[in-house]
Amino acid sequence: MISLWIPLIVAPLLLAIRLVRRPRPLPPGPRRKPIIGNLFDVPLQNPFAAFDTWRKQYGDIVYLEVLGNSIVVLNGMDPITELFERRAGNYSHRPVVQMVGELMGINRSIGLNNNDKVWRQQRKLAAIALGPVGAKQYIPLQERLVALFLSELEERPGDFMGLCELAAARLILEITYGISIENMENPYIKEAEDIFELVRRGVQPGAYLVDFIPWLKHVPAWVPFSSQATAARGRAQVEAFVNRPFESVKTQMAANTARPSLVASLLSDRSDVEGLDFEEILKWAASTMYDAGGESTAITLKSFIMAMALHPEAQTMAQQELDTLLNGSRLPTLDDRASLPYVNVCIKEIYRWHVAIPLGLPRRAEKDDIYNGYLIPRGSIILPNIRGIAEEGDHLTRFTPEIHLNKYADGSSDAPDPLSYVFGFGRRACPGKLLAENSLFIFIASILTVFRITKDIDSDGNEIPIDPKFQIGLMSHPEPFKCRIVVRSPETKKLLANQLLDRPIRGGG
Ligand code: HEM
Ligand SMILES: *[C@@H]1O[C@H](CO)[C@@H](O)[C@H](O)[C@H]1NC(C)=O
Ligand SMILES: *[C@@H]1O[C@H](CO)[C@@H](O)[C@H](O)[C@H]1NC(C)=O
Ligand SMILES: *[C@@H]1O[C@H](CO)[C@@H](O)[C@H](O)[C@H]1NC(C)=O
Repeated sequence: MISLWIPLIVAPLLLAIRLVRRPRPLPPGPRRKPIIGNLFDVPLQNPFAAFDTWRKQYGDIVYLEVLGNSIVVLNGMDPITELFERRAGNYSHRPVVQMVGELMGINRSIGLNNNDKVWRQQRKLAAIALGPVGAKQYIPLQERLVALFLSELEERPGDFMGLCELAAARLILEITYGISIENMENPYIKEAEDIFELVRRGVQPGAYLVDFIPWLKHVPAWVPFSSQATAARGRAQVEAFVNRPFESVKTQMAANTARPSLVASLLSDRSDVEGLDFEEILKWAASTMYDAGGESTAITLKSFIMAMALHPEAQTMAQQELDTLLNGSRLPTLDDRASLPYVNVCIKEIYRWHVAIPLGLPRRAEKDDIYNGYLIPRGSIILPNIRGIAEEGDHLTRFTPEIHLNKYADGSSDAPDPLSYVFGFGRRACPGKLLAENSLFIFIASILTVFRITKDIDSDGNEIPIDPKFQIGLMSHPEPFKCRIVVRSPETKKLLANQLLDRPIRGGG
């Protein structure tokens, strides 16, 4: 009798065990080759085209493997919201980057930090300095530096790319340390560029062998090709870069000569960091600002100029709105923002049209996890395909700010708000968002008030076409292009001169 019952009990039990233990499938993705995986499926010249193809072929979530590293690409807001927001506890760490992170010590910056306790305190300081209250104190400085930029642009319109980079760098250095710079030959900028180049090379797979063979870091420095010598050199460079401007603010504060800055204000009003080293936390939080905030702002400004040269109709609409409000009497300020709906949606469309950080900053899966029935293996690198969500690949030729106008009763519009994706997600979202938005509004509204941007004309009087092309990389700059930037009228010329007198460049904040 009992023998009859046994299979009836055991069979479902075995089935249940098999169901529980059956390995879940990985998310769909291109076929993987042994060892190298999809290494050669990502074309170096145009990786974004491959990402676009996979987004259309496989949908919301795509799985890749490169030299044994799992990579999960999120192509839609659904998986991003679920993983980065609802399951934030398991998806808010960055990948461990051996060479530039662990060995050179840049793992202490906010952007790469994986020590929850330290990182949380860094974010707290960033929120004090860059949140709604903190960001307000920089508005006069932002308006002053924009006026300086406008006068430089009037003098050297052909150098608009370099001037956008200078303006963004100058802004972030003034705000962070009170350092004022004249040009890109400034030693701090040079040093920052060197370090950023290290980081950029370091996060590119294959740049440093030790990132793929972590035990290499134990090979002593005297062995040829060992990574320790490179690491030691980099580490010293990084240390100096982080310490020097910080110490100089401290010295100036002691002598009462410090200019207003993020570091000075946080130092003079020390917050509780729960038993951690306050200065260490602040020093590393501050050092991240230039790398994270300078380039992304410059990219957005250059993309704006490119888009305006390509889409004169949108430019005209925005200029009419500004003229109606200001009547040529002054430059726009941040207070005008609410009265300029079309300028605002133009800025949103710039964010969408070209995403400055196309694949965001990578995250890491903390544990094996299941999403929609698919396994996301522990340790996977997770890339939010922000560029895909913006549909940049499909809609780069289209520039239609109107899609962002709130049309419906609930305040929504025909397109997801670019502000909900270009600055990242959840706990790790960009802490500089408000500051960046304020800067970009003042820059863009002021440029539109003063200048007309058009395609350039060659010596035969023909328009020089602009091909909207962007560099490949963590941060994606527009490729160099030519355009004409001219002051709109003799009245605007006068206005510009007067505004410079009203917003003196030198002196305290
Ligand atoms: C147009 C301008 C900007 C864009 C598009 C942008 C975008 C982003 C994105 C996509 C991330 C990754 C977020 C994530 O992992 O979900 C990020 C992180 C970050 N951004 Fe920005 N950003 C901009 C400007 C700034 C500025 C002006 C600052 C500083 C003053 C700044 C500071 C940071 C920092 C410190 C992080 C790292 C946060 C962390 O890992 O916890 N950003 N930004
Ligand atoms: C992280 O994953 C584990 C295991 O899947 C789960 O138990 C835990 O609740 C998750 N944590 C969060 C914050 O989602
Ligand atoms: C940075 O890397 C070093 C070397 O691996 C490690 O000892 C340290 O804990 C890391 N720091 C953080 C904040 O991750
Ligand atoms: C606009 O400016 C013109 C010339 O400066 C002036 O005549 C006119 O009254 C102004 N209009 C408004 C509405 O302020």
